[in-house]
Amino acid sequence: MWAEIDLCSEDLKSKRFFFCVGDWCDWGWTMRKATWGLLLLLTCAATCDQSGQNQDGEQKGPSRRGHVSVVVVGSTGDLAKKYLWQGFFNLYASQVGKGYSFSFYGGGLSPDGRGTPLLFEILKSQDCPVDVSDERCALVREQFLRLAQYRQLKTEEDYQALGQHIETQLKQEGMVEAGRLFYLSVPAFAYADIAQRVNRSCRPPGTAWLRVVLEKPFGHDSNSAQELATQLASSLKEDEMFRIDHYLGKQVVSQILPFRKGNRKLLKSIWNKHHIDRMEIVLKETLDAKGRISFYDQYGVIRDVIQNHLTEVMTLLTMSVPKNLTDCKEINRNKLKVFSALHQLDMPSAVLGQYQTYNSEVQLELNKTKDHFSLSPTYAGIAVHTTMPQFDGVPIFLVSGKLLDERVGYARITFKNNVFCAQDQTSITCRPKQIVFYIGQGQLQYPAILVSKNLFKPALVNNGWKEVIENDDTLLFGIPLSDYYIQTPVVQQEAYTELISQVFRGRRDHFVSAESLLASWKFWTPLLNSLKHTFPRPYPGGAANGNLLDFQLQGREVRFCSEALVNMIPQEKTESFQVMQGKYRSADMVSAWSKELVERLAHDLQEAAEESVQEGTPFHLALSGGSSPLALFKQLTQHHYAFPWWNTHVWMADERCVPPNEAESNFRTIHDHLLQHVHLPYFNIHPMPVQLNQRLCVEEDGGALVYEQDIARLVNSSSFSYVLLGVGFDGHTASLFPGNRLGSSGERLVALTESPLKPHQRMSLTFGAINRARRVSVLIMGKGKHELVTQLSRIKDTPDRWPITKIQPVNGRLVWYIDYDALLGQ
Ligand code: BG6
Repeated sequence: MWAEIDLCSEDLKSKRFFFCVGDWCDWGWTMRKATWGLLLLLTCAATCDQSGQNQDGEQKGPSRRGHVSVVVVGSTGDLAKKYLWQGFFNLYASQVGKGYSFSFYGGGLSPDGRGTPLLFEILKSQDCPVDVSDERCALVREQFLRLAQYRQLKTEEDYQALGQHIETQLKQEGMVEAGRLFYLSVPAFAYADIAQRVNRSCRPPGTAWLRVVLEKPFGHDSNSAQELATQLASSLKEDEMFRIDHYLGKQVVSQILPFRKGNRKLLKSIWNKHHIDRMEIVLKETLDAKGRISFYDQYGVIRDVIQNHLTEVMTLLTMSVPKNLTDCKEINRNKLKVFSALHQLDMPSAVLGQYQTYNSEVQLELNKTKDHFSLSPTYAGIAVHTTMPQFDGVPIFLVSGKLLDERVGYARITFKNNVFCAQDQTSITCRPKQIVFYIGQGQLQYPAILVSKNLFKPALVNNGWKEVIENDDTLLFGIPLSDYYIQTPVVQQEAYTELISQVFRGRRDHFVSAESLLASWKFWTPLLNSLKHTFPRPYPGGAANGNLLDFQLQGREVRFCSEALVNMIPQEKTESFQVMQGKYRSADMVSAWSKELVERLAHDLQEAAEESVQEGTPFHLALSGGSSPLALFKQLTQHHYAFPWWNTHVWMADERCVPPNEAESNFRTIHDHLLQHVHLPYFNIHPMPVQLNQRLCVEEDGGALVYEQDIARLVNSSSFSYVLLGVGFDGHTASLFPGNRLGSSGERLVALTESPLKPHQRMSLTFGAINRARRVSVLIMGKGKHELVTQLSRIKDTPDRWPITKIQPVNGRLVWYIDYDALLGQ
């Protein structure tokens, strides 16, 4: 069944001649049977049919030549039928005569009698590679079929038999083994078992390589991905695993880094937040999920294509361009940096949709009753942001959906345009500036990289690409095609063909490493968890979607632009958006559901800050630590762009006696969640000096006094403009705990105090300092505080037992912000 092709590799012409005179049977190697001679002749004839040159000469081959066994597990499934066998056929056609021999095993669960005809039906129907003549293709195909066989691969014994078969054949034919390539085109739950069997029974001996290709999904979330990675690592080494993301094999995607590198001089000044307005990475599909609901319904659109394909494209657009484009370690390092710089996503970062017939497809394919509702989204629009200084503030939209109006994939970078055209608004200088990586389908019908002519003329990404001159005035993203520099591959190639050839060559730069896979899941899992119970917006499908799925960015959040017209899915608990005002402990109280409450508090805070600024005085804001203000910080950083931070001084209501860079430090919390996201002068930030002389909160170091003096020096009458407080379950506020004898602190503004909880030592504003403030707000949220809120509403002022009751601004105003959960306990 095997053909040694090495014969043709060196001097093809002379060997062809040798063949042609019929001397082949004199050679003393494995050619004993007439069929072998025929195969060899066909092989050589097929190779020599071309130019007689080794077309692959410049590519780096695997370390040693010899025999390669290819095993496709799941060989008659959809993916194998559509893409994999075509990839292996192309690989074979391209390698004929280059020193390798092959055997192809199609594995499956069916017994041989059933699997064999199915497999050969598929193999026979493979198309000829474009660069191979029909005549030569017929010869190569015939040979390919002879080298292939079906094998049932169900049990441990089946794998053992396969391993033995390969070895016996190698021995019998005296072949040197180059390696074994297993392609697992099976559901992910089967990976670990198969990997174990391959490891136990089919691992090649000696220096021959083992490469195992794995198809997504690689897990469902962080934990499952980690678990799968651990299981696989017990059978296979990392460099034996090739995790495929077929988008990395798409011609345009694979040229993103070369394009960025080749045009680095032109891009250097514009590939940043000062010039880029936004990035869009889009995969729109017209098909539905019918026929694969059992998979799709567990995954939904984010896991199916966004966590992997679109995320990979995003990393290629935003990572530092590696010095060496084929150095997978450097690529991996740079990708990891991208992941570590991404802002975490949560519910408001995404909008979800589901085409209207999806649910009935689920009921049908999964045998569910009529009252079953699936929450799996078939459409998602997500805004991602990064803290990388280069792209800080640039929104990256990731969008994909089934049953949309067109089938198209692209990554588009739009640039800001600071030109004002006084007369001709349509002149080229006024037109949008963009770079489009057009991955495929859609209007263009060919993959391409397009650069608007008002940006620059790009260099060709490589020799296999050509320039396209389109005089067509059809608009692509608002620009006539004639206004773009366009380049496209000379020969279009399927992603799988490209990637299979790379696995064969042992090139790993277009595959997903375990580390980056886990980093990607770490990034996506919190969003997926937060969306678990969200009802996607139903959409009719196709052109009828109109603008139903358009969404807009507000701060870092996204919202659908229009109200849903159709709503066939029951809504979640309807929330009252009303904000209620009332009295609590004789002071003003604002109450609402937590989201609206935080919005209101942020609004009130900004209003107070603006008032101060209008009066010509800085806004002195004292913030507490703990978790309550986090939602407020988020609201401020993401929605309050007009907040007068430049005129704001940030002080602290209290601090734990720990070094300021430790996670427990209140300053660290305020820094990480607020200060690093807003712009205010360095001199306006006032951390409490809990660490002086390299010691923490030592009385003699006088830290409290230092802070007090700073307050007295900078804050008019030591009266803060605004103090934001929380209240603990024990009634403490700032770091003023029950039993702290603060009476003795007299006129002091700052004191060292003690907490019953670790870390015990604290520094805190005193009641005196807080009660001088013009405005004090106490924020209380969550069901857990309901009992406390009830109790506080009943008791009198008992500061020793309930320090919060001593908060009574002398000339200022106290407002309680209590959410409905805390107020009503619901
Ligand atoms: C696959 C998804 O990974 O990618 C499919 O599972 C999706 O749902 C497909 O249709 C899109 O790939 P392509 O190559 O058709 O754009």
